[in-house]
Amino acid sequence: MVDVLLTHSNHLYSDRKQVRKMEPYPPLQTLLAAACLRREGYQVALFDPALERPETGFEQALARHRPASCAPAAAARAGGSPVVPAGEKVMLATTRQRFLDDYIKIRHAEGRGSQDSAYYLALPYRDITGRLQDQWTIRAKSYRYLERHVLPPIEKQSGRPLRIADLGAGNCWLSYRLALRGHQPIAIDILGDPLDGLAAGRHYQAHTAFPRVNAEFDDLPLAAGSLDVASYNASIHYSTGYRRTLTEIRRCLRPGGCFLIVDSPIYQRREHGELMRRERHQQFQATYGFASDTLESIEYFDTEMLAGLGRDLGIVWKVYRPWYGWQWALRPYQARWRGKRPPANFWILAGRFTT
Ligand SMILES: C[S@@+](CC[C@H](N)C(=O)[O-])C[C@H]1O[C@@H](n2cnc3c(N)ncnc32)[C@H](O)[C@@H]1O
Repeated sequence: MVDVLLTHSNHLYSDRKQVRKMEPYPPLQTLLAAACLRREGYQVALFDPALERPETGFEQALARHRPASCAPAAAARAGGSPVVPAGEKVMLATTRQRFLDDYIKIRHAEGRGSQDSAYYLALPYRDITGRLQDQWTIRAKSYRYLERHVLPPIEKQSGRPLRIADLGAGNCWLSYRLALRGHQPIAIDILGDPLDGLAAGRHYQAHTAFPRVNAEFDDLPLAAGSLDVASYNASIHYSTGYRRTLTEIRRCLRPGGCFLIVDSPIYQRREHGELMRRERHQQFQATYGFASDTLESIEYFDTEMLAGLGRDLGIVWKVYRPWYGWQWALRPYQARWRGKRPPANFWILAGRFTT
């Protein structure tokens, strides 16, 4: 599978004059475009139709190279992917836009992002603005754990660079770290923001280039069976339906591939997740004047939910419990002491589909 399949429209047999002369032009501009895209880190294939029948030749090239953005259409044609009805898509687009407007207002108000490349290059270990160092310290611990305990067995089993989707990539720090580790990440998000969304990923491109794709995780522009790993880093809890989201990633993973859920809140009991959700919305309402609840994101997992997803979608879960320090470990006791709901766990979940 490639990111881009290039072609051109110099079809020699469509031009009688050229057939008489029989001096076909080499497709120099197309070759140049391919070289530029490759330099930017895209995987590119080129179909030169000058001496071929353009339609059948192009269809064969599509089947051979499976460019990423053609995948949903092709899969839908083959009946392999759920097709969202047009009316529903329009409704989703307006809801999503409202969600993004609220979301980005909050993120900017929280002081996320910087104009300085050094800020992005230091993540997740340091927030050089100093504004949200506590949060990044936790994120860095999760990432270190991932690097030391979760990725090595997958890497060993594969023996080659992994094709990894970084879903809900935000500013793309994880894609950058995975690319430095020798993998082939694709950063995917619905947010293009230059401080906190995909456009912020430009700070990494000169160091190690990777594709950034504006798409949502329920409708991925990826071919079936094209991923080794999918990682939802602090993102899957924005889903409005875990079954739909995970069914889509099942389509995109190769047999034996796995998905990872990192830095999403997990509770033992559903009522504690619901309580956290209400508290968050009230806090947003009090601070920003809106509850940021237009998308109806689920916002958490609970143990019963995980068991149900496992049963219905044929997922085998492996649960990793990183150590975030004593202060973190004491939070449940402190909450009980103060008569508050238990805090969320930030376990790392690795899921594999058995069906
Ligand atoms: C809290 S941020 C996490 C960003 C990044 N993964 C990180 O670890 O810093 C959640 C991200 O999920 C994205 N997101 C939310 N819903 C999404 C969806 N349906 N499809 C793709 N991305 C989504 C948001 O735009 C946002 O960038």
